[in-house]
Parts: sequence; C-alpha cells; structure tokens
Amino acid sequence: MVKARFKFGEYELLVVQVLLSSYGTFNYLLCRDGKAILIDAGEAKPIFQTLENENLQLTDVLITHGHGDHSGGCRAIQDRLGVQSTSAAVEGRAFPILGTTCRSFATPGHLAVCKSYYFPELGICFTGDTIINGAVGRMMGGTPEQFFQSLEKIKTLPDETILFGGHDYLEDNMDFALSVEPDNDAVKARLERYQSDPISAVFAILEEEKKTNPFLQVTSADEFAELRDRKDQF
Ligand SMILES: [Fe+2]
Repeated sequence: MVKARFKFGEYELLVVQVLLSSYGTFNYLLCRDGKAILIDAGEAKPIFQTLENENLQLTDVLITHGHGDHSGGCRAIQDRLGVQSTSAAVEGRAFPILGTTCRSFATPGHLAVCKSYYFPELGICFTGDTIINGAVGRMMGGTPEQFFQSLEKIKTLPDETILFGGHDYLEDNMDFALSVEPDNDAVKARLERYQSDPISAVFAILEEEKKTNPFLQVTSADEFAELRDRKDQF
C-alpha cells in the first residue's frame, strides 16, 4: 500500500497507492513528528490503515481535483477524523501547514478546477493529474489555453523541485515521448532507469521533466491541443 517513502529533513513523504478501479492513483501523506497531511483522498480505507500502521495523526486534507480517485474518500475521512479539508475550488494562496508553508495555485486544464500544491521549503510539488510523470492528464473539462498556462506556471518553479503526480503512467508516457522525438536521449535514459529504479524515474525533478515531457516543450495553446490530440490517439 505504501509504495515509496521520501525523506526531506524532518519530513517524510509516504506515497500511498489507492487501488480504486484500475487507475492505481497515488495519494500522499506528508508527515512530521507523528502528524500528517493528506494530498488527495481517493479511498478512505488504505489511508486509515496507513495512518494506523505508521502511528500518524491526520490534520488536513488537500485535494487536487474532484475526480473520484483523488477525492472520493474525503468525506469518509473527514467524518471519522474530523479533519480540515481544502477543495480544489478554494482560491490559490500561501498558508502555514505542518510547520512549513504550502503555496496552492490553480492549474486548470485536466478539469476546469484543479490545484497544485507547492511546498517551497521542501522543494516538492503535488500536481495531481496536471503533470503525470512525462505527460499530462487528459482534457476532461478544461481548455487547451488553460492547460498550456497551467504548465507555464509549473515551469516557473525551481528546476530541482520534485514533482509528484497522480499516477504512474511513465512507460506509456515515455513511449509517447519517443514517438514525438525518437532521438531524445533524456527520454531513453528515464525509460531505462524505470527498469532499475522505478521510483526515481517516476518522481523526477522539474529539470528532467522539462527534458522528457513533450507537453512542457510546446510554445502555444494550439500546439498543446495538437499534441494532446495526438496522445489521445496513441
Ligand atoms: Fe483526474
């Protein structure tokens, strides 16, 4: 259930895989001193179980967007634990949480309402289905213009920021990237690394994401729309 663990100073990040339907969605527990916040809440059961196994007290839930595999368990978690939750519809802002700062910002495109959550002191950003390791989510409510602008915003974060997306679609995404740019050595290297060290390949830093994600290389909303279409057919 806990698919990976990361350490950032006093903080630990647990990647919890929610096996709702076939999406294998990632929800995340960011923890410090026995307290935790949850980024996305697709399913309550694995979250309750992880909190118990790890002896954690949940204080807050942050939701990237309203799809069931990211938010369907939120109500049950709130009902049982009485925690605060922030929906994707709340305006972007910087706020203190778990002894650090979180900056939420709107990243519409996958849906008309999506948020990303950036933790500048930890150098990590949760992008939901906006950027998903090497590609982007499908357009299911937003516009190409919105999606393009959202990616431009994420691209302004520091290059060493680790991106945590909603799924592991890396193999498919790298295959698509190679179909766009067959000689891209960075894509080949990331795909190869996936075989030996999948966690580091999936959760890459923005610098690598820029080199391996063709959607971060488009220069206009029209170009974005064309590429998204091409991937839908892939
Ligand atoms: Fe989604």
